[in-house]
Amino acid sequence: MKWLKQNLLRLVVHLFACSLLYRMIDVAVSREFNQDVMETLTKASGEWALKWLLFSLACASLHTLFGWRKQLTVRKITGLYAFFFGSVHLLFYAGQYRFNVGETWIAIWTEARLAIGLIALVILIIMAMTSNRWAMHRLKKNWKRLHRTVYLCGVFSVVHTLLYLKAGGEVFVYVFLLSLFLILRIPPVKKKWTLARLSYHVRIDT
Ligand code: HEM
Repeated sequence: MKWLKQNLLRLVVHLFACSLLYRMIDVAVSREFNQDVMETLTKASGEWALKWLLFSLACASLHTLFGWRKQLTVRKITGLYAFFFGSVHLLFYAGQYRFNVGETWIAIWTEARLAIGLIALVILIIMAMTSNRWAMHRLKKNWKRLHRTVYLCGVFSVVHTLLYLKAGGEVFVYVFLLSLFLILRIPPVKKKWTLARLSYHVRIDT
């Protein structure tokens, strides 16, 4: 019971990710493997790569905003799922070229919005490869600096998405959330907000 209490959030995240993957595999195997299916799956996996990335960035911002700590336990795994669904997204895109690496590569570099997506994915790959204790130990202070580039990845991912989706509610939410997360990372803003939050709690408690 204690284990379940401690790991409930992690469990929910894993189950949710598995259900998304199951739905994608189900679409892939239950229909004929054609261009339309590949496009549908490319869209769905891209959408979820971005959502996982925003979930991951939200973990730190929720801590700054409200002092909550529980979500910090899933910051790493949500980031890893962004990498995973981003890779699946690229795989489905390559599927539209019958997994021909050369053709996919040329298609990516001849369209700016795709090249931006690739840069975002490369950052996610670097984050995933260095998200272990060994890399943390080897990189020491540089590890934190390196992992701040996840915000740059957020910018590239949202720009890539903006270039595909028409301006609308969904895009507005992505831009709003990313802007909020970036603003909360600015040191004076973070410091001022944290001090205001702490002094509010002191006033409430006394
Ligand atoms: C090599 C890397 C990438 C390639 C080749 C790529 C390719 C594409 C393509 C072709 C579409 C348009 C799908 C369609 O409308 O038919 C798309 C949309 C999208 N991509 Fe990517 N992408 C890449 C990386 C990423 C990354 C890293 C993210 C997020 C973390 C991302 C998030 C999205 C989103 C949210 C959409 C819009 C989905 C929708 O229509 O709702 N992509 N991408």
